[in-house]
Amino acid sequence: MPAIPPNVRGAVITGWGAALPPKVLTNHDLERTLDTSHDWIVERTGIHSRHIGGSTVGLSIESGRTALEMSGVDPLSIDALVLSTTTPDRTVPASSAAVQAELGLRCGAYDVNAACSGFVYAMVQAHGMIAMGAKKVLVIGTDTLSRITDWNDRNTAILFADGSGAVVLEAVEGPGQLLGWDLDADGTAERFLYSELGGTIKMEGKEVFRRAVRIMVDSATKSMHHAGVTADQLTLVVPHQANVRIIQAACERLGISMEKAATVLHRTGNTSSASIPLALIDALDNGRVQQGDLVLLVGFGAGMTAASAILRWGGATDSPVLA
Ligand code: ACO
Repeated sequence: MPAIPPNVRGAVITGWGAALPPKVLTNHDLERTLDTSHDWIVERTGIHSRHIGGSTVGLSIESGRTALEMSGVDPLSIDALVLSTTTPDRTVPASSAAVQAELGLRCGAYDVNAACSGFVYAMVQAHGMIAMGAKKVLVIGTDTLSRITDWNDRNTAILFADGSGAVVLEAVEGPGQLLGWDLDADGTAERFLYSELGGTIKMEGKEVFRRAVRIMVDSATKSMHHAGVTADQLTLVVPHQANVRIIQAACERLGISMEKAATVLHRTGNTSSASIPLALIDALDNGRVQQGDLVLLVGFGAGMTAASAILRWGGATDSPVLA
């Protein structure tokens, strides 16, 4: 992917919102139905519990509404809604249509499916729309993977869960937050992780693990190169929340301390499109990001896709939001 050309209109995140279904499923709950144990799941994945339930539309409305309220943006002024999901509620229309109606938006709305990399894909698209004249874009990442999980398969049932995260992007005068990005896919590897229409997720865990580390490192390295930043300059890394050992291995290869990684998977499991925004929002709500900090978003997923972006939080200090 090319570097961002100079003088492109930029954007900053001005609001965010998270949504998790109320029902919590612990590892101990899974012990009752699967040949597994809490200790095994924690040791091999880092997951302790996850949230299960709700619909993709319902969770998206909740996170999207919170993000809109925080930004203070009038819903009628949103120029586009991009919803990343692998688990739409219906085949047609896109889930974003129902979300758009319920949030009172009057704008283009569509779904993106790039599996667990989808939120970063959607973020890059939203920045592209702002570069071409849009002023405000709502980006949501939502998945309800519990609906396509085989609850009798201990390989996958311990991993997947439901959730949603949303951000409002607003155009700024001058340089925005996005300094570099990379999107990737390797369709020849799709057999390692897939779900047929109406089916459940099939996965070769070891192969996905091996490739995940490699493609996350590769994508993150490209984004850092495009942004002209080095790993030691990053304040925060927000990786896809699939397995803490994948995050550790990727951070180690990138030369980034695990202390800089945002992790929520111990309490969320793998929520696919929601995983990166949920981890980012957790870091923001805990005051881990300040104006000017460099943040790396990096994901991987079925496809096999990978995506990353380097953000300078808040953009340049002299880049006011456009009215
Ligand atoms: N509980 C207890 N034992 C188990 C379980 C379980 N849930 N699952 C497997 N085992 C056993 C295996 O049978 C095996 O036993 P054996 O040694 O007697 O043969 C042993 O534990 C080790 O199994 P592995 O499969 O080698 O375990 P591994 O360390 O690879 O962990 C895991 C498995 C957690 C699935 C890991 O491979 C992984 O996380 N892979 C990546 C998955 C991933 O990220 N998927 C999401 C992609 S994103 C998207 O698009 C949705």
